[in-house]
Amino acid sequence: MDENPLIELREVTKIYPLPSGDVIALDQVSFTVREGEFVAIMGPSGSGKSTLLNQLGCLDRPTSGDLYIKGKNTREMNDRELTDLRLNTIGYIFQRFNLIPLLSAYENVEYPFLMKNRKPDDTGRVDLLLGLVGIDRALAAHKPPELSGGQQQRVAVARALVNEPSILLCDEPTGNLDSVTGHQIMEMITDLNRKGRTILMVTHDQAVAEYSARTIVMRDGRIV
Ligand SMILES: Nc1ncnc2c1ncn2[C@@H]1O[C@H](COP(=O)(O)OP(=O)(O)OP(=O)(O)O)[C@@H](O)[C@H]1O
Ligand SMILES: [Mg+2]
Repeated sequence: MDENPLIELREVTKIYPLPSGDVIALDQVSFTVREGEFVAIMGPSGSGKSTLLNQLGCLDRPTSGDLYIKGKNTREMNDRELTDLRLNTIGYIFQRFNLIPLLSAYENVEYPFLMKNRKPDDTGRVDLLLGLVGIDRALAAHKPPELSGGQQQRVAVARALVNEPSILLCDEPTGNLDSVTGHQIMEMITDLNRKGRTILMVTHDQAVAEYSARTIVMRDGRIV
């Protein structure tokens, strides 16, 4: 048993109360992730994968149970501490990109930098990241609706990395991408893991899961 896990869930339950009855999206999930691990999360649609990632990203609080990040119980953190964690420690690549449609690709990547530093990027980091993910200057001026799905996902990868997070959460990072683009995105994610980032990645694709060193399978809100 690891004594100092980077992330630890203890019996985390998430219930969505709906008029038609409660949905138990996560049912007493416990597991730990060590620093530098690359973990794939698999399981059928509706099994709770995105709900689990939202908990790990502190985008939502558990109904019951505890989530520790770097030994600290997130339940005991105030809003400022949680915002700080989301901005500085965790990078998130969403299942549906979640880019801001009215901002250009460049502005989308710069946005978390602005939130953190309260000033525009004068370090060239946004340009560097866009270059790394293969978005050239002309494309960087486009707004998300003027980009292909694969290009939007590249922008989302760059945005997730702009504040140099130590934990990267990816929800179907290659979903809806052609296999060549999907492979390029996976190469980027694998490279980040080699450089020490801890990665948790939801995928329904066994070939994509094989980039990771460990796979967790979910069913009906539980790890099986
Ligand atoms: N905001 C919400 N309100 C109510 N129920 C929700 C909400 N979000 C998810 N659920 C329900 O919780 C369960 C788990 O959903 P979740 O999105 O985590 O599944 P998933 O494994 O990511 O599925 P997929 O592979 O289709 O993305 C499902 O039954 C879903 O209908
Ligand atoms: Mg999902």
